[in-house]
Amino acid sequence: MIASVKGTRDLLPPETRVWNRVEALAHEVFALYGFDEIRTPVLESTELFVRSVGESTDIVHKEMYTFTDRGGRSVTMRPEATAGIARAYVEHTLAQAGRPWKLYCIGPQFRYERPQKGRYREFRQIDAEVLGPADAATDAELLVLLFDFLGRLGFTGLSVSLNSVGTDATRPAYVEAIRAFFSSNENERALGEDDRRRLAENPLRVLDSKDPGVQHLIGSAGFPRMVDLLPSLDPASDAHHRELKALLVAGHIPFKENPLLVRGLDYYTRTVFEVTAAGLGAQDAILGGGRYDKLVADLGGPKTAGIGFAIGEDRLVDILPADFRKEALEGARRVVLIPLERADVEESMAVARSLRQEGIPVDLVTAAKGPGHGLRVAEKTGAALAILLGQKEREGGVVNVKDLARRTQESLPRAGLAAALRARL
Ligand code: HAM
Repeated sequence: MIASVKGTRDLLPPETRVWNRVEALAHEVFALYGFDEIRTPVLESTELFVRSVGESTDIVHKEMYTFTDRGGRSVTMRPEATAGIARAYVEHTLAQAGRPWKLYCIGPQFRYERPQKGRYREFRQIDAEVLGPADAATDAELLVLLFDFLGRLGFTGLSVSLNSVGTDATRPAYVEAIRAFFSSNENERALGEDDRRRLAENPLRVLDSKDPGVQHLIGSAGFPRMVDLLPSLDPASDAHHRELKALLVAGHIPFKENPLLVRGLDYYTRTVFEVTAAGLGAQDAILGGGRYDKLVADLGGPKTAGIGFAIGEDRLVDILPADFRKEALEGARRVVLIPLERADVEESMAVARSLRQEGIPVDLVTAAKGPGHGLRVAEKTGAALAILLGQKEREGGVVNVKDLARRTQESLPRAGLAAALRARL
């Protein structure tokens, strides 16, 4: 037997019904907010992620599926969606349209992480990006959309963690403050090999450390906080952050400030946010996002502001409220149609065709070994009604309809069958 690759998984029915419902709702809600879908390739140039997500991030440093293709190019299976969308924005000169672009993308991402509950090597994201506007109202509107979507899925009690990571005006001073903090012997000793590398290459990344000792230091009172530097070093970012918070309060979006949130990707400027949920274990972030006002220019495009988020769909589905899940699984009640003999197949196919034309879903079970077997198959597929069609029914212009849950049966005329079935579904 050949098993699936470690860290990947098959999504089987009926669970796929839940995924489809979630995605259908995402399409619906995004459209309500003026978003359009974009589909970018799974495969991108490795260079794209090195330049956007950042060389010293865990993602680029050790998690990418990178290989040389047969033409000698270094390609990477995308670990996230934002970089590809920004690349497409530049490649297709979308900036020239002179309008904001509100784009979303649903699809698989790949990271070579240690698989565990809620963490896979192939996982799926529901990603949204707004390219163009740089104002705080755009950030607020994106969070309104997000909470609208989560609310329609039935989530209550979620709250967003919010921070500002500043801009180039503040970054050097913040980086210096982090270095100064770890320059004391005692604090420096807490750093393992990985964190020493982070401190040397990109001190902000030390905040991503999974080392409990380092996390403890970062949480201590003496650790520098970006928000404290903003008012003096970057009043514009400070004003942006304040305006966003005021808009979130006005829009009833629940948030908590988390001055230590920096997110594990290098492209962020100003706003960053994350939503975590209980019940996911150590992997508790169901989504993350933020503003990236330099990314498009860094990829060779015109100076363009951007902000977005990505929901981890696997994690979202994992903790989906029971009502939404139940409704999605039960879905449309289905009909199974069973020809009793080979001679009844042609007539059964005609009945199926006319019912489907009227919008009734019909699952034709052609290879049943007699009515008993056909009914057992119908029950196993979770159908609500089974229609039996044999010589007697054909001659009488009727069908024999069994309600599989109620265990009742009745003979219904072929004429007006669709309406009669609809009333019983
Ligand atoms: P991220 O925080 O790296 O951000 O990923 C977003 C979400 O993807 C996470 O919160 C998590 O739910 C899910 N996720 C990440 N890795 C895994 C995994 N191995 N298994 C299952 N789920 C996972 C980004 O990707 C940014 N591109 C978000 C963004 C969009 N920022 C601006 N625009």
